[in-house]
Amino acid sequence: MIRVIRVKDAAEAAEKAFEVMKEFIKPGKVLGLATGSTPLGLYAKMVEDHKQNGTSYKEIKSFNLDEYVGLPITHPESYYAFMHRNLFDQIDIPEENTHVPSGLGEDLEAQAREYDEMIAESPVDIQLLGIGSDGHIAFNEPGTPFDSGTHVTDLAESTIKDNCRFFDNDISKVPTQAVTQGIGTIMKARNILLIATGANKAKAVKEMLEGPVDESCPASILQRHDSVVVIVDEPAASLLS
Ligand code: GLP
Repeated sequence: MIRVIRVKDAAEAAEKAFEVMKEFIKPGKVLGLATGSTPLGLYAKMVEDHKQNGTSYKEIKSFNLDEYVGLPITHPESYYAFMHRNLFDQIDIPEENTHVPSGLGEDLEAQAREYDEMIAESPVDIQLLGIGSDGHIAFNEPGTPFDSGTHVTDLAESTIKDNCRFFDNDISKVPTQAVTQGIGTIMKARNILLIATGANKAKAVKEMLEGPVDESCPASILQRHDSVVVIVDEPAASLLS
């Protein structure tokens, strides 16, 4: 079941998302985390809450969705670096409790299977998601099987263009592959929180919520999950009936 919460703008989306997330920032919980610009407002709220109220992450674990293939973790646009900069380094979560898939290694598919095994041992209590303008979740591009586990994938042309802004607007610098949790992995999370803001997400939001459940829109699978909250701002909700 999907509960849709409509808000005015990205700032209000971050507030609502924090209200949902707060229930899970408790000892023993496992958070599924995401990158992209969308969760930045929520991460800022989590950092502020940690600093002002002393909310602790010492006994929390986290699993991130994805990582670019071939970027060293020291690259500022690696998702490892993104997570450290925007969240992990500003709260008290122990490094060993955080997990970001590695995009480097001899056998990425074997590493991907190990990642799924780790998640199976520590099931995710709440998975945070953004949505790509083509309806992707994590880096599961249109056409990805709904039962997929963590795997290596080619990025869609539109995703490479969307993410160009993080790589000096130089398309040749954007990685063309990523390691991503599969749709099957994501669907195992007990609860899902998806945030969509901005007009460039309006079409994907409409297809996710009102379209058929079809692999052409990866996010549409969320219609089959028991516990999903979708927070949409006005521009992202503009095509909803
Ligand atoms: C990226 C990420 C996704 C993210 C999406 C939207 O490529 N792999 O996890 O949700 O695209 O990004 P943004 O929030 O910057 O619009």
